[in-house]
Amino acid sequence: MREIQLPLPGRDLSYRLVIALGLGRRLGDLLAPWQFPPQVFVVSDRRVAHLHGDTAMAALEAAGFAPVLLTTPPGERAKSWAVVQRLARQLLERGAHRRSPLIALGGGVVGDLSGFLASIFMRGLPFIQAPTTLLAMVDAAIGGKTAINLPEGKNLLGTFHQPRLVVIDPEFLRTLPQAERLNGLAEVLKAGFIRDYDLLARLHVLKAGFFNDAAELTEIIFRAAAIKAQVVSQDEREGDLRRILNFGHTLGHGLEQASHFRLPHGRAVAWGMVAALTLSEHLAGLDAAEAEWGRRLIRDCGLCRSLPALNPDVVMSALRLDKKRRETGVPFVLLPRLGAAVVREEVPLGLAAEVLEKLLAAASRSA
Ligand SMILES: NC(=O)c1ccc[n+]([C@@H]2O[C@H](COP(=O)([O-])OP(=O)(O)OC[C@H]3O[C@@H](n4cnc5c(N)ncnc54)[C@H](O)[C@@H]3O)[C@@H](O)[C@H]2O)c1
Repeated sequence: MREIQLPLPGRDLSYRLVIALGLGRRLGDLLAPWQFPPQVFVVSDRRVAHLHGDTAMAALEAAGFAPVLLTTPPGERAKSWAVVQRLARQLLERGAHRRSPLIALGGGVVGDLSGFLASIFMRGLPFIQAPTTLLAMVDAAIGGKTAINLPEGKNLLGTFHQPRLVVIDPEFLRTLPQAERLNGLAEVLKAGFIRDYDLLARLHVLKAGFFNDAAELTEIIFRAAAIKAQVVSQDEREGDLRRILNFGHTLGHGLEQASHFRLPHGRAVAWGMVAALTLSEHLAGLDAAEAEWGRRLIRDCGLCRSLPALNPDVVMSALRLDKKRRETGVPFVLLPRLGAAVVREEVPLGLAAEVLEKLLAAASRSA
C-alpha cells in the first residue's frame, strides 16, 4: 500500500491518502484507528452503488460496522440543494449523530455532494473519500473542496471540509466507461504538465494503455494524486499556488460552455491544454519542439480527436466572464518548460482569440 500524508491546514495534524489494488475490500479495516460508532453512512450514486456498493458494504460489515447505504441519481444534477436536503433527512431518520462517519463512494459528483453534506450536517461529520472515477482519484477527492450547484451555475455553494482519509482502489476503474476514463486522463496529463515531467514521459510510452496494466495504473494514479496533494497542502484555500491546477481549464471552461456542455469536461480541458501550450510558446519561453511533443502526447492519449463546431466569439465571452478572472485581464497558467507552471495574469485577449481561432480551424479540418 502506498500512502501520502496531507497536512491539515492550521492544525498540527495530517490525514492519509492510501492507494493499492483491492483496498475497497479493506475499507472497514482502514477505519479502525478512529473508533467510529458502528453505524456508518455510505453515499453513492445508483450506478456506482449497483457496481461496487456490495464490495464496500461487505468490507464495512466484515470490520464490525453496520453500514447504511444512501443513494443519489447519477450525474451532475445530483449536486443540488434538493438532494442535500433529502440525504440530510435520511441521515436523521436513520439516527445519524455528530460522530457518524459519512463515506463518499463514487465520482467527483458524489464526493462534492456528500462532502458538502458532511460539512454542514450538525456542524460537521467525519468524512471519508472512496473515489471510483479516475478524475476523483487524482483530483476531486483531494483538497477538501466541496460544492453543490445552483440553477445559476456550477459549484456556487461550497465549503472546505477535509476528509479523515482518502481510500483509492484502482480496481474500481475496471467498470469505468471509456468517456469517463478520458475525463480523468486529461487531469493526469495536466498534473504531469504542471509538475512532473517523468509522469509525462511514462504516459508517452504507455499512452492510454496504462489502464490495462494494474501496476502502472496504480503508479500513475499515485503520482498524479501526489501532485494534487502537494499543491493543495501548500495552499489550501486557493491562493496563488493552487491556481496552477487550472492549466488548460481557462479555455477549457470556455469551450465547455460554448458547446452547451456537449463537449465533455476532460476533452474540453485537453483542448484547453493544447491552446495553453501554444500560448506558452509565445509568452513563457516554452521550446517549440517541447510544445509540439506535449500537443502530440495529448492527441496520442485519445484526447483532442474531435471538436464540435463552435463560435470563437462565444468561447471568448465565456472566458471573459470566468469567475476566476481578475480585473486587469485574463489569467492563464503557462509552462516555461514541460513539468513547470507559472500564472500569467494578463494574457492579451487578442492573442488568446488568435490561438483559439487557429485551434478551431485545425479541429474542423481534421474532423
Ligand atoms: N472538489 C474538487 O476539488 C473537484 C475537482 C474536480 C472536479 N470536481 C467535481 O467532480 C465532478 C465530476 O466528477 P466525475 O468526473 O468523477 O463525475 P461523476 O461523479 O459524475 O462520475 C461520472 C460517471 O461515472 C459513473 N461512475 C463512477 N464510478 C464508476 C465506476 N467505477 N464504474 C462505472 N461507472 C462509474 C457515475 O455513475 C457517473 O455516471 C464535477 O461535479 C466537478 O465539479 C470537484
